[in-house]
Amino acid sequence: MLDAGPHAERDRMTDQIATLLSEQRRFPPPQAFAAHAIAQPALYEEAARDRLAFWENEARALDWIRPWTTTLEWRLPHAKWFVGGQLNVAANCIDRHLAGPRRNKAAIIWEGEPGDRRVLTYWELAREVGRAANALKRLGVRRGDRVAIYLPMIPEAAIAMLACARIGAVHSVVFGGFSAESLRDRINDAQAVALITADGGYRRGQIVPLKRFADEAIAECPSIRHVMVVQRRPGGAGDESFAEMKEGRDHWWHRLLDPENPHCPAEAMDAEDLLFILYTSGTTGKPKGIVHTTGGYLTQVTSTTRYVFDLRDDDVFWCTADIGWVTGHSYVVYGPLANGATVLMYEGAPDWPERDRFWKLVARWGVTVFYTAPTAIRAFMKWGTDHPARHDLSTLRLLGSVGEPINPEAWIWYRKHIGGGRCPIVDTWWQTETGGIMITPLPGVTVTKPGSATVPFPGIGAELVDTTGKALPKGGGFLTLTEPWPGMLRTIYGDDDRYRETYWSRFPGRYFAGDGAKLDDDGYWWILGRVDDVLNVAGHRIGTMEVESALVDHPAVAEAAVVGKAHELKGQALAAFVTLKEGNAATAELKDDLKEHVAKKIGAIARPDDVLFSADLPKTRSGKIMRRLLKDIAEGRALGDTTTLADPNVVARLKEQYEGQES
Ligand code: WTA
Repeated sequence: MLDAGPHAERDRMTDQIATLLSEQRRFPPPQAFAAHAIAQPALYEEAARDRLAFWENEARALDWIRPWTTTLEWRLPHAKWFVGGQLNVAANCIDRHLAGPRRNKAAIIWEGEPGDRRVLTYWELAREVGRAANALKRLGVRRGDRVAIYLPMIPEAAIAMLACARIGAVHSVVFGGFSAESLRDRINDAQAVALITADGGYRRGQIVPLKRFADEAIAECPSIRHVMVVQRRPGGAGDESFAEMKEGRDHWWHRLLDPENPHCPAEAMDAEDLLFILYTSGTTGKPKGIVHTTGGYLTQVTSTTRYVFDLRDDDVFWCTADIGWVTGHSYVVYGPLANGATVLMYEGAPDWPERDRFWKLVARWGVTVFYTAPTAIRAFMKWGTDHPARHDLSTLRLLGSVGEPINPEAWIWYRKHIGGGRCPIVDTWWQTETGGIMITPLPGVTVTKPGSATVPFPGIGAELVDTTGKALPKGGGFLTLTEPWPGMLRTIYGDDDRYRETYWSRFPGRYFAGDGAKLDDDGYWWILGRVDDVLNVAGHRIGTMEVESALVDHPAVAEAAVVGKAHELKGQALAAFVTLKEGNAATAELKDDLKEHVAKKIGAIARPDDVLFSADLPKTRSGKIMRRLLKDIAEGRALGDTTTLADPNVVARLKEQYEGQES
């Protein structure tokens, strides 16, 4: 699983650790913030004294239909939380806010890329979700059925998720930037019975024709019985020409919902009933369906949202993630809404129509808590300080970062130019698999260090280990989780063996996150990034094997190896080494064609930056491609040990070729 081998990983980590060790800056919590912070230092002590009691207490903040009888049932690697308890996630995110003053509070403030706006109060959200839930039922969607959601960032994305949760259907959201083929594979793996999509969405002024991609996908999805289509296209009402509707199968969302009753009873779900499946890249060519359940997941996202973002009733919380990623699930929809917060949702790109769009949004809506990815921060840095400086960002009081390691310079820039030097920064480490935040500062409590995600959230157990699985008190190694946590994935959909193998076999008894990390003298975590064949491109997880499979699917390609190379803005970019089948010429056109082919197979996020044609790929004598050496070549480094190669000359030739060639 650790393709590059322990030594290579250790060398690479040693370099990174040396750089991070020079980071000496410390930022104690501002006193004014600390005085009123929701999180208090005692939380750590409470959780350390009795971990389960801590989580029970957090779970009690939710509305339960029936209380649980057992807090945790742990049969490694399978955990059950709050066993015997019953609740409904949508009722927790909506209904319980309707009785008090939150009834008329904005739940979702939305802005489309072209500038259209919509504000939904909790009351209005309740009615929309109720009608959508009844519409799903009318189409025959039952408790336990899987529903695929392929939508732009519009309120209907949240409404669709909550409608599924309300009736006990399991949603599988597929990011709108994924291709038809990716959508098809995800639908088929989950055997979804319905798909919710839109005629289109906006991205940098262009319309992304989602319904057309969806049609292409479901031509090969026999399980899909119904398609609901949200009308997003501007020019608006009555213009139905953008999406071709198939009689009997396709239904306009607005027409279907219009006659429905806004009241739909919330299903009593068991704590361990499935809430959603979310596909993510792994180390094989096939994405895995991460399974999350109801009670534990909601407990962890509700608790972390409250403490990590210090969320209050008058906050406007903006998490910039798309709903297609786990960050959108946990911190656009479930965590904030369960807390009765106001969330801002924005459909489009940060540089449309200008590079100050985000700051315009912050100023217009008075955003107070802002949560984004290092990739975005690095882009803002590059675009210059003028853009944020032109807008009033004084409402901001807390900033967050997620998805990739944040380099100290980006952290400092973020603090100064976005946070005005006054906002604490929470750098939060977690994964699709963990469901919620795991390692993070608590604002008002934790002293922060630029580039460090600091310490585990209360009630979370993390340990650094070496290659043999021995726990290390400090230094460099692998990040593992030592205790089951409420929001943890329960399995991989339909493949429990893969679940055991992927997460629990590398270090027996521990969950291995796939990340390398450093633990400093103060016990602070510095996450160094993936050590497996998963890349993190602009905060998006992409498996090298997935891209390789897409490449070898092209008729001209014999063999392909894909590696990540360091990239100033995206963190990592994809470099592909390709050998062609006999009779194919290595032309510039073919290069473009291959990049396009990958975008079509997976989605534009997986398009390689570089494609290099090569007569051979460096292999060990047993035939294994040495990706580590390819990475060295792609990043312009001196070559490491090549003695285990079947033909050492291959690498030297490749290096020469790579350096001499524009890709
Ligand atoms: C990386 C996103 C450093 C890490 C929530 C992890 C981070 C992967 C951080 C999960 C962080 C996430 N610092 N690295 N604060 N947060 N990562 O599943 O490599 O899309 O394993 O979940 O992102 O990506 P995923």
